[in-house]
Amino acid sequence: MCGIVGAIANRDITPVLIDGLKRMEYRGYDSAGLAVLNSERQIARERSTGRVASLESLVKESNLSGNIGIAHTRWATHGKPSVDNAHPHISKGSVSVVHNGIIENHEELRRQQLAKGYKFTSETDSEVIVHQIEFHLKDSDNLCEAVQKTVAELEGAYALGVICRNNPNTLVVTRRGAPLVIGFGKDETFIASDMSALISVVREYCVLEEGDIATVRTGKTTIYNEHGTEVERERLTSSLSSDDAELGDYRYFMEKEIHEQTRSITETLEGRIGKDSILELAFGPEARPILNDTQEIKLVACGTSYHAACVARYWFEEFGFKTDVEVASEFRYRTPVVNPKTLFITISQSGETADTLAALQYAKKLGFAHSLCICNVPESSLVRQSDLAIMTHAGPEIGVASTKAFTTQLVALLMLAIALRSRRCAGDGCDQQQLDLVNELRTLPAKIDDALQNEALIEQVAKQFEDKNHALFLGRGAHYPIAMEGALKLKEISYIHAEAYAAGELKHGPLALVDENMPVVVVAPNDTLLEKLKSNIEEVRARGGRMIVFADPASGLKTDEDEGMTVINIAPVNSYIAPIIYTIPLQLLSFHVALIKGTDVDKPRNLAKSVTVE
Ligand code: M6R
Repeated sequence: MCGIVGAIANRDITPVLIDGLKRMEYRGYDSAGLAVLNSERQIARERSTGRVASLESLVKESNLSGNIGIAHTRWATHGKPSVDNAHPHISKGSVSVVHNGIIENHEELRRQQLAKGYKFTSETDSEVIVHQIEFHLKDSDNLCEAVQKTVAELEGAYALGVICRNNPNTLVVTRRGAPLVIGFGKDETFIASDMSALISVVREYCVLEEGDIATVRTGKTTIYNEHGTEVERERLTSSLSSDDAELGDYRYFMEKEIHEQTRSITETLEGRIGKDSILELAFGPEARPILNDTQEIKLVACGTSYHAACVARYWFEEFGFKTDVEVASEFRYRTPVVNPKTLFITISQSGETADTLAALQYAKKLGFAHSLCICNVPESSLVRQSDLAIMTHAGPEIGVASTKAFTTQLVALLMLAIALRSRRCAGDGCDQQQLDLVNELRTLPAKIDDALQNEALIEQVAKQFEDKNHALFLGRGAHYPIAMEGALKLKEISYIHAEAYAAGELKHGPLALVDENMPVVVVAPNDTLLEKLKSNIEEVRARGGRMIVFADPASGLKTDEDEGMTVINIAPVNSYIAPIIYTIPLQLLSFHVALIKGTDVDKPRNLAKSVTVE
């Protein structure tokens, strides 16, 4: 959603703040701002709409500098994207705040503050925070206490960075429901929403827990828990490399991340497959008893991660586990009947998606036996709050449209399904199917590489979308969610309205939409549903529909230009891993269509990488 960065040092920290904002732009990018305490001990601020680059120019022009400061990149929730609504907010020239999250009782606080004579300059929910801190500073000059009193009055989610004219050597930070890390350098300290913002300056960091508040100084940082008791938080060393967040020879992060999938999947598999089985201990020491105890599966996630859950349902069911899948934003408001022997699985790239986190907390209250998350960010809230975490090891994903996170989630889910299968199908030993599945997993990186070789052909086919505003995606079985994911990718980055259907549903309504202006993308692997799918293809062909079909060569489907049918052959793959492989051409298609449409591929309008508010 939004991104926060802050610093205190014996040098000018504005370049660090700008660099941190750039690295976190994927969290939100409709406006950005920065505030420092300058050499006259005044709060000096610059804000701009648009990208961090515009803010950077303003900061250079105004020669803004200081040893302590905070900065923010925003994704609008309350109040349109504008300079006035951009953070940091300032109260009476004395306090400045950056906020990530949502303050639910902001209207009530605003009413009280207006009555006390505070003047509002923005439409945001966040501005009440800075006035409330200023109000509490009237009792004493202690910034930490004023922030403590303020957060006790807030309802909602927040990560805050606060500076104050009268506390020139202290940066105060606190969090509840939104992430925050503190990075420790030599005589300088940094804060950020996530470690990727700080990789150019520090490696050592700690993650604040829910309700923690910290006074951050150059040499000493003191952390208090939600009860006000001084606590230590574990010092960690970040394994992120700055290369991970650089484009290299690619034009876009999405392009880079699509091409990184051979490597990222290799890393997901690394150390987790043995000669003939999944090394489930690699999932953590608690994995075995938790998996032994599992009778049913509940999968909950959002967006692309939800599509991964939908694919995984086919695997879990086929291996004998009753499985239920739901989007987190719906699950959290239902009253499901729970079999306590159900393993509650969340899937999330970021591990900070507010709906998914709330669903996990709700699941704990409902009495699910155990929780497991499939996640890409080890320091994330989801990982810390789940009984078991399987890390996808995809590396930082910067493009807003999820690509390598999705395929690595699928790989992790397939490994988990195979591990569970051994409890239902093969007893304690190993059988031929398990051996075949494990061997198939080993072939994945090479097969991903093969699928990427189709890029030139796909680039040509993408031209068919140049003047199109709508598209249909069709698939059957586990490839129906792959069609859903293909449609989501096209929508997100090329702004073409795309809908996915289980191909058998076509005749129940969507067929009415089919004509020569509606491209129909079909996912046609060689599986048990191929013959049924071919009938659905004929239904489209008979109505003059233009089709792009990704098919196994054995399908017999052929390009027929007169009939408006283009077939791109995907090298033969086993039906269990086919959903992972058939994702690749759909990602490439949406990427090349977006290039043709001239959209901002990595930062599509109205979207943010991590949706940390409801
Ligand atoms: O970080 P998460 O996986 O929890 O994020 C969930 C969705 O917000 C995310 O997958 C979103 O749908 C992506 N933009 C899809 O490309």
